[in-house]
Amino acid sequence: MRVLGIETSCDETGIAVYDSNGGLLAHDLYSQIGVHAEYGGVVPELASRDHVRKILPLIKQVLSDANTTAKEIDGLAYTSGPGLIGALMVGVCVGRALAYAWQVPAIGIHHMEGHLLAPMLEESPPAFPFIALLVSGGHTQLVEVKGVGIYHILGQSLDDAAGEAFDKAAKMLDLDYPGGPAIAELAKKGVAEKFKFPRPMTDRPGLDFSFSGLKTFTLNTIVKYRGDDVLPDDQTSADIACAFEEAVIDTLTIKCLRALKQTGLKRLVVAGGVSANERLREKLTERIHKINGEVFYARHEFCTDNGAMIAYAGCQRLLAGYHEDLAVTAKPRWPMDNLMPLTEE
Ligand code: KG4
Ligand code: ZN
Repeated sequence: MRVLGIETSCDETGIAVYDSNGGLLAHDLYSQIGVHAEYGGVVPELASRDHVRKILPLIKQVLSDANTTAKEIDGLAYTSGPGLIGALMVGVCVGRALAYAWQVPAIGIHHMEGHLLAPMLEESPPAFPFIALLVSGGHTQLVEVKGVGIYHILGQSLDDAAGEAFDKAAKMLDLDYPGGPAIAELAKKGVAEKFKFPRPMTDRPGLDFSFSGLKTFTLNTIVKYRGDDVLPDDQTSADIACAFEEAVIDTLTIKCLRALKQTGLKRLVVAGGVSANERLREKLTERIHKINGEVFYARHEFCTDNGAMIAYAGCQRLLAGYHEDLAVTAKPRWPMDNLMPLTEE
């Protein structure tokens, strides 16, 4: 089965063609970073309009890159939630309309399921069951995964997501959007021991997260150390970025190890934009190997939003016989623990 995948939940137009026999045939991404940079975050209306401009040319290009004609597409998959409603509607409408025109089945995909399954596109994919740490701009979740669609949420953020915390801390330090890569870059010049930031909710049992206190701690530290200027000097800013990054990474690592211990599992999958963070990968890999476990990531370009993960997830679901009727459905909020399972638990 050959599936065209469409991702438009936020500020990236991602398109891909995945084939159940040939694997990933082509994928490409148009990032709107340039559109939103001057506002320091995503402006939803601008995002929707830019998806409208870019989606059809990108689909044509990816079909051509995949050496595929419309006639060879057996199904459509598009992100139908969660995300920005206007942005989602663009992908859902185009995907649904193409499926109708080409007379093939279509399926709406949960964006976080896409992230969760992205490591399946790698050469050595994880086997089920595993624990997934999903860390993106909108979500921070620990999920016990027994198969495609069998997701038991063990813990999640009670307030800000990890990526959101990176973005907000970056804004406080006057760094460019998106904040995650900018903080990571600045942190390389910092001295980790200079500041000790809290590791929220690690001193009590449970697998939930909270990052809003860390955000306040970061702001207070910046205010305390700023000189005549609005920001601390360059070295102090780098030290703060480093201490912030270490605190988030430590917190995530502690909770991952706790989730593995609690469930008796030894396999961890880390997915979503923040999983592109090199320090997080280093630390988690080291700690998971220490307990003789295995850890899996997607390649960097598939950690952040992309069409390949949606085409892959769609292919699995369409192969299992799921598809949607002609209704156009976009869900800005959509819990992940009640999706249709592909296998029995
Ligand atoms: O998965 P994603 O592309 O979009 C959502 O579904 O939200 O994640 C975007 C988030 C942003 O908050 C961004 O700052 C963060 O992932 N991010 C990173 C890194 N690269 C992206 N955070 C930390 N370190 C990175 N290298
Ligand atoms: Zn995402």
